[in-house]
Amino acid sequence: MNTNWTIQNIPDLKGKTIIVTGGNSGIGFEAVKEFSTKGAEVISACRNIQKGEQAKAEILVVHPKAKIEVMALDLMDLESIRKFAESFKSKYKKIDVLLNNAGIMMNPYTLTKDGFESQLGTNHLGHFALTGLLIDLIKSTPNSRIVNISSMAHKMGKMNFNNLLFENGKGYTRIKAYGQSKLANLLFTYELQRRLRAANSSSIAVAAHPGISDTNLGRHFENMWLVKIMMPLYLKMVQKADMGALPGIRASVDPNVKGGEYYGPDGKGERTGYPVLVESTPASHNIEDAKKLWEVSEKLTGVKFGI
Ligand SMILES: NC(=O)c1ccc[n+]([C@@H]2O[C@H](COP(=O)([O-])OP(=O)(O)OC[C@H]3O[C@@H](n4cnc5c(N)ncnc54)[C@H](OP(=O)(O)O)[C@@H]3O)[C@@H](O)[C@H]2O)c1
Repeated sequence: MNTNWTIQNIPDLKGKTIIVTGGNSGIGFEAVKEFSTKGAEVISACRNIQKGEQAKAEILVVHPKAKIEVMALDLMDLESIRKFAESFKSKYKKIDVLLNNAGIMMNPYTLTKDGFESQLGTNHLGHFALTGLLIDLIKSTPNSRIVNISSMAHKMGKMNFNNLLFENGKGYTRIKAYGQSKLANLLFTYELQRRLRAANSSSIAVAAHPGISDTNLGRHFENMWLVKIMMPLYLKMVQKADMGALPGIRASVDPNVKGGEYYGPDGKGERTGYPVLVESTPASHNIEDAKKLWEVSEKLTGVKFGI
């Protein structure tokens, strides 16, 4: 008997409202496709509307009945995040799943519009603010979920609260900043889950990672000589985006998922395979760091959750 969790296991999603950040590419695109195919109303939150519409059109060719709305969201800009939340709330009255998927990886040192180092700014702070601005609607939707996409790179991550944002580029390395941002995704997930549980909410917070998947994420190191040399080996190790999307999809819709769980591929080194429960590092379960990150994230973004 085949016990692998696949898209065949996605339940009927009619009547569900699902937000996917970064829905125009890679893992997010696959998630939008599968959720909408199963009947959910999906909001694909994209920083580039044209790319979002193009991706939507691709899905509609195969699934003409898919209900997808592309909405503008730039996670590198708090004003855009606020506008997205306001505009969403004016149209929709529930959120069954918020899939915080969008991300950037290992780009040169740059700042968001609000002056945050861009990897932490996009991958964590932007999603923290988005979640906080939507939390009332999420909490008022029974059995809703917040799903954060982390990475195996969280294992290399270290929270440097003395210089969280690599001020003026001090100490910045691409991998340090990426690792820290992906560790932050998990610290945020587990702290959010503790707070939801303490508030007796039926909403849960869950995390997932896609292993190593062939998407557009590596755009910032395509030209590096080491990457070129390693490319044939890399291509043997990676899986297609549709497989990489499965852990996040499972975390979003499998009725057996519980708050605080973390899903990833079941293959060797969690690089490829079908989604199963996986472990994250002890650092990701550090309660003190989670509280500190929460406080500093509220301060930096100006978004308070009230839970
Ligand atoms: N692929 C992997 O092997 C892998 C491994 C571990 C974790 N992940 C995680 O998986 C998630 C999805 O990445 P992917 O592999 O699917 O990469 P991808 O193909 O590059 O997709 C990333 C998505 O995020 C969007 N995005 C980036 N910055 C944004 C911003 N400021 N505001 C709004 N959207 C923004 C991108 O929009 P544009 O198209 O406009 O740039 C794109 O839609 C990320 O969180 C990543 O860290 C991926």
